[in-house]
Amino acid sequence: MKHGNYAPSVKAQYEVYPYPPRDPEQEKTRLYVPVLDALDVLNHYGFAGRRDFSSGFNALVAGCGTGDSAIALAEQLRGTAATVTCLDLSETSLNIARRRAAIRGLDNITWVQESLLELPRLGMGRFDYINCSGVLHHLESPPEGLQALKEVLADDGVLGLMLYAAYGRAGVYQMQALMRFINQGAENTDEKIANTLKVIDTLPERHAFRQSMDIYAQEIQAGPSGIYDLLLHSHDRAYTIPELYAFLDEGGMQLVRLFGELSYRPETHIRDPGLLEKVQRLPLRSRQAVGELLHGKLCQHTVYAAKTPKQPPELSDIHGVVPALAFIYDQAAYEGFYRLCEDARQRIVFRMPGGGNLSIAIPKTAHVALIMKYVDGRRTLGEIFAQVRRECGEAPPSDSRLLAEFRPLFDAMHASHALLLRHRSVPPMPTRDEMQRRVSARYGGAG
Ligand SMILES: C[S@@+](CC[C@H](N)C(=O)[O-])C[C@H]1O[C@@H](n2cnc3c(N)ncnc32)[C@H](O)[C@@H]1O
Repeated sequence: MKHGNYAPSVKAQYEVYPYPPRDPEQEKTRLYVPVLDALDVLNHYGFAGRRDFSSGFNALVAGCGTGDSAIALAEQLRGTAATVTCLDLSETSLNIARRRAAIRGLDNITWVQESLLELPRLGMGRFDYINCSGVLHHLESPPEGLQALKEVLADDGVLGLMLYAAYGRAGVYQMQALMRFINQGAENTDEKIANTLKVIDTLPERHAFRQSMDIYAQEIQAGPSGIYDLLLHSHDRAYTIPELYAFLDEGGMQLVRLFGELSYRPETHIRDPGLLEKVQRLPLRSRQAVGELLHGKLCQHTVYAAKTPKQPPELSDIHGVVPALAFIYDQAAYEGFYRLCEDARQRIVFRMPGGGNLSIAIPKTAHVALIMKYVDGRRTLGEIFAQVRRECGEAPPSDSRLLAEFRPLFDAMHASHALLLRHRSVPPMPTRDEMQRRVSARYGGAG
């Protein structure tokens, strides 16, 4: 591995403190899939729901760490002709990821210990999907990192990125600055971590970091790796929404999808109609910037980006699109969502998973529950509407009427990627639980 094009302190940190801390044994009982790497989500946004991943697909995880994305992708692509390449500077991290793959019996991953900045020179060809989550903001020059990724991204490929968000991490940077003072002259990393824990304990209630402790509790409880990554990192920067757009614009990339979109919508936060009207007149990027500022606690931006604009599947293509629950839901969830619609009175309220108190409410219209009854991940929208009509007897509603009723339901469920569209030519994928059951069975468990 060549040196000199990354900060040595970053490599050194991840050799000692691989991140995120993971116990490979957990593979026997659970499959964790980061939202960026869910192939049904990627298909929806990146490939208009038309990509059949079983017929040739090259994925790269740049800065794979201990392997969350590597495992998620390789598990979903198991038994196909697709390849998953995972690259990281840190041998310790790669070894944890390798062990996870071995426990799952995955043999479709190529491991590379290298800097992502070397990618254009490694002769590995182009990738249809690149995941680079929580990595570019640790480079000395994030734009250089983006260029290296862009060079090996296929022209119609998708880049999944997570970059830190500036305002939500204000308390983190205050702590990092504080710890740089306090840890001057500290003998070793154990002492730095011990000092950090003491400082956390003495912070006053009003302190910005203390006030976001709920967000970071997991990292702190995770032990030294989590604490080091959060509060003692040697190279770490964050982006506001305008900075994120500028970063992508300057790198010649288009933003395809901003995840957790509801948090960035001003209407999620503003109740006053006059104020909201004023804000809604702003262009999209400014509205998202306002959303970030109003939210106040967003600590990361998770996006898909691409070299060219991408269009998701069009709901009005009713004979082409199949609405399907995200594969992280099990089959029983269809019934659960149908019941939610059926039991609602005037409004159907969808709570966002992991979205704190965020929710979306839609009016309950005449046929919306009946439509949901026939959404099963296999029927096209046209077939669902035909089924609804058969149950309606006299004065059956037209496709356009049913589409108008379904659209708000789709938008609400889609805001948290619960409901996605796939072209009917693409076969459904097994659910996450079905995938895990196959692995767990090897170890005598049900998963
Ligand atoms: C915060 S961890 C994120 C790991 C993983 N992407 C995830 O989301 O779980 C950052 C990882 O990026 C790796 N890294 C940092 N700079 C890198 C570079 N120039 N090339 C390759 N990997 C790098 C580190 O070794 C570390 O494993």
